[in-house]
This record gives sequence, structure tokens and C-alpha cells, in this order.
Amino acid sequence: RRHVAAFNLDLLELLLDSQFLLKLNAESGDGLRVNEGDGNLVLWDFHDLGFHTRSTEGRQANPVGSTFAYASVVSPLPAVRPPWPGTKIDLHKFFISDPISPFAKLLRERHSVRDFDDEHPITLAELAQFLDGAARVLSEWNSGAPFEGGPEITYSTRPYPSAGSAYELELYLAVSNCKELPRGLYHYDAGGHALVAIEVSALHLQALSAAAEFAMDAPGPPQVLITIAARFGRISWKYSSIAYSLILKDVGSMIQTFYLAATDMGLGGCAIGTSNIDLFSRMTGLEFHVEGPVGQFALGRGKKPEGPR
Ligand SMILES: Cc1cc2nc3c(=O)[nH]c(=O)nc-3n(C[C@H](O)[C@H](O)[C@H](O)COP(=O)(O)O)c2cc1C
Repeated sequence: RRHVAAFNLDLLELLLDSQFLLKLNAESGDGLRVNEGDGNLVLWDFHDLGFHTRSTEGRQANPVGSTFAYASVVSPLPAVRPPWPGTKIDLHKFFISDPISPFAKLLRERHSVRDFDDEHPITLAELAQFLDGAARVLSEWNSGAPFEGGPEITYSTRPYPSAGSAYELELYLAVSNCKELPRGLYHYDAGGHALVAIEVSALHLQALSAAAEFAMDAPGPPQVLITIAARFGRISWKYSSIAYSLILKDVGSMIQTFYLAATDMGLGGCAIGTSNIDLFSRMTGLEFHVEGPVGQFALGRGKKPEGPR
């Protein structure tokens, strides 16, 4: 039994040394209680970190995206689910708004644009209007944590919904072709409604745009490529088990907001399902598990369609 206990201690030490395990609130030599290791890693649930690194590019070598891995053994599901066999209540007769409302029209006009008019690129003024309408902080407020002794928490209000009002999503703009805005990477300061330039290598910037171009099978890079990054700790500090899934749902609501804002302004855009978390980390110096990409959106002035859509 003594051997087993010694082995368990050795194993524990090995796991601690290799940072598989972290000690929370360990006692230091001078009697202070301290955290050992990286507190930002402690905030991650195991399944969330595995999901994040395995569903993105950069930290793994498995194929990502449309590989049609089961095409030879399983048939594709139909586009529309076959109806249930129960009694049918036809809803067509309730359609009374003619013409349809401006909002319904906006929804119907929305579509993905992958081919941009580089002779007439999006302007800085349009980009400012897009960000103002879709993403800026409208107000800030504080509230106490809903448990005794909890800290005061700061919150903000923005044009799109966000789980727990966390607003953990940040926007990084890789600008390739925008009138009056030099090429480069910018962070959108949503509180100050300003763009802040981040110094990055031209090669990294090109790699980021080229990956987006490839993902859209587009004829050129997006005029502005928006990387949606998450400050993971902002949401995992509060939520257990569902933190990462909430972040992805927030990305969905933001993407639809972007599509509608772009359509409303006569601009074009397209969501992109992949991101390279390692490239972003190398460009920004941010550690991949602290703040990193969870979505992308290509934005610009779409080329006029040559024929009917
Ligand atoms: C989460 C998400 C990820 C997407 N990823 C890609 C992508 O990587 N490449 C691409 O060309 N289109 C992408 N799209 C756009 C879809 O292909 C498009 O929305 C769909 O074909 C419907 O066409 P529509 O947007 O023109 O109505 C994505 C859309 C969503 C919502």
C-alpha cells in the first residue's frame, strides 16, 4: 500500500510539474495563499478547450472543413426536413402584410457576398457607420454579483444580444482595401468607437486574408476581414460547462447582425467558418487561451451581379 501511495504522490508531482494540474490557493512559504500556474487556463473546462483547439486551425494537424468524410457510406440528409404525419395547419392564409415590412425585406435581401468591387472599395466612413450600427458600446453599467461577498461587475449594452450580457467578443479588422484607411490590422475599441492600429508583419496579414479568400473560394481577398475574437475568461468566470457553447452562439447572433447591417448599407459580406488560432496569436501576441478567434466575417462593397441572381 505504501508503494501505491508513493506512486500516487510521484504521479501527482509529475502532473503538477508538467502543468497538467495546477494548485489553486496553494500555501506559499511565507503563509500567503497564492495560485500556481496560469489562472487563465484554470478558467477553461476541459471539454471546452478541447473543442476550441480541435474545431479551429493552427494547433492541430487534422483536416478541417468540408472533407465529405462519410460521403461514400452515408447519404446526405435532405435540405428540408420531411413533415411529421400529424394534422397540418396551413399558415399561408395569415400572410397579410403587402408589401412586406422593411425588416422582412432586409431579411430577404440578405445574402453572402464573396466577390468585392476593388475599384470602388468600402470607405472609412462606411466602415465607421457599419461598426456604429452593429457593434459599438451604447452604454455601460455596474451590478453586484448575485452571491454574498461577490465583486461589482461591469456590463455594457450593445446592438446585438449576448449571453449573460457578457459581451466577450472583440473585433480585429484586417484591412486590405478600404478607402482612406491604410492596410493593416486594427482593433475596434467598441467603448471608444475607434480603430487602434496593431503592428503586424505584412506576411502574417497576407496569410490571414489569403486563408479567408480560400475559405470563400473567392477571386480575391476581402476588403476588410473581421476576426471575431473572444475574451474567454469574461464568460467562463461565470458559466460552467456551457461557456464555449455560449460564445459560439454569441458569434452567431453577431454574424447575423453584421449581415443585416451590411445589407442595409448596400455593402456585402460573408461569414467564414474557419479560423487559425495560432496565426492570430502570433500576430497579436495574445495567448490562444486568453483571447482568440471564434469567427470571421468578410466585408466590403460587393461587385454588381452581372445577371439575375
Ligand atoms: C457560421 C457560418 C459559416 C460560414 N462559413 C462560410 C465559409 O467558410 N465560406 C463561405 O464561402 N461561406 C460561408 N458561409 C456562408 C454560407 O455558405 C451561406 O450563408 C449559405 O450558403 C446561404 O447563402 P446566403 O448567405 O447567400 O443566403 C458561412 C455561413 C455561416 C452562417
